[in-house]
Amino acid sequence: MEPLDTLGRPLRALRLSVTDRCNFRCTYCMPREAFGPDHAFLPREALLTFEEIARLARISAGLGVTKLRLTGGEPLLRRELPALVRMLTALPGVDDLALTTNGALLPELAAPLRNAGLKRITVSLDTLNPDRFQRISDTQIPLSQVLAGLEAARAAGFGPLKLNCVVQHGVNDDEILDLAAFAREAGHSLRFIEFMDVGTTNGWRLDSVVGAEEIRRLVHGRWPLEPVDDPAGAVARTWRYRDGKGELGLIASVTAPFCRGCDRARISAEGRLYTCLFAGDGLDLKAFLRGGHSDADLAALLASRWTRRDDRYSERRRSQTPGLPKVEMSHIGG
Ligand code: GTP
Ligand code: 5AD
Ligand code: SF4
Ligand code: SF4
Repeated sequence: MEPLDTLGRPLRALRLSVTDRCNFRCTYCMPREAFGPDHAFLPREALLTFEEIARLARISAGLGVTKLRLTGGEPLLRRELPALVRMLTALPGVDDLALTTNGALLPELAAPLRNAGLKRITVSLDTLNPDRFQRISDTQIPLSQVLAGLEAARAAGFGPLKLNCVVQHGVNDDEILDLAAFAREAGHSLRFIEFMDVGTTNGWRLDSVVGAEEIRRLVHGRWPLEPVDDPAGAVARTWRYRDGKGELGLIASVTAPFCRGCDRARISAEGRLYTCLFAGDGLDLKAFLRGGHSDADLAALLASRWTRRDDRYSERRRSQTPGLPKVEMSHIGG
């Protein structure tokens, strides 16, 4: 039985965070003032085990989930990640297994992940300028290591990669065409993301947002674009370069929200279920998992939570949301 939420939306995609830690401190996600040396990350025993994650994924597949995505924090920091990939690949009904990463550890991990059955990798890339990279990502790891990660992923057999670029006014909006040129030449599919007001620490302001339509017009002026049909539930609007050099995606969750088709749930590394990226609190699945309940009980719990879901934060953002409590991005991986 596949549940529908109060707006008639099915549950199709599950984003699984495997750690709340990260080796970067991107200013828009984990600013060092809020995630400094004293920050209390989750202790190991608070994390779901791989068996618990795989059990939740298997039960979710029974409720209609076909797409899984591993996230963090930075998911490649979770030890033995390829073993989890192997467990998830084996699940019936799951036909897409992807990973969102900052790319820094791909030189070591791309090949083992590929061998374990991972299908797709998305890498965050906000700038091509090494100094600016240091400022945005606030890490000792150099940009060259991320670029080496892209090459390692390609060499391991991951086809065209998706690249995610969060665009901010006065930070990296002068690099839009350079980034597009880089992706076109390398054969990657670049997605520009509007800076979002996720969490409570990233100092978001509406005037930092560069709208997707402005970006589209800029790129179109240089390399003409035409629209591509996107599948139901997609977050990005896809455009194709008319000269045949691949695709560009625009994720406009601020200027053109896509809650209507939102079929995604998120589970944090400590096992809380969030039915929206901007949710205030999550349902504690870990207590339930560790409480000796049957798979049927767990399925019923997930279905009943989904059936009550009415989230559409991005559509309500302007009028009704200031000051609401929100989960941090690094807990649910975007
Ligand atoms: P694909 O299946 O490859 O399209 O993956 P994806 O775009 O869903 O995943 P990814 O982790 O690459 O996310 C890209 C950006 O879209 C990130 O900034 C996410 O935070 C944002 N995003 C993903 N899902 C949602 C969502 O449900 N709501 C909002 N508002 N933003 C989302
Ligand atoms: N707004 C938009 N995108 C963000 N991401 C992280 N924080 C934000 C934000 N405030 C992106 C990352 C990553 C993806 C999972 O989410 O760059 O690519
Ligand atoms: Fe880490 Fe990604 Fe957040 Fe940057 S955006 S701090 S790389 S989790
Ligand atoms: Fe889905 Fe919430 Fe994002 Fe809307 S804001 S698309 S409901 S996760």
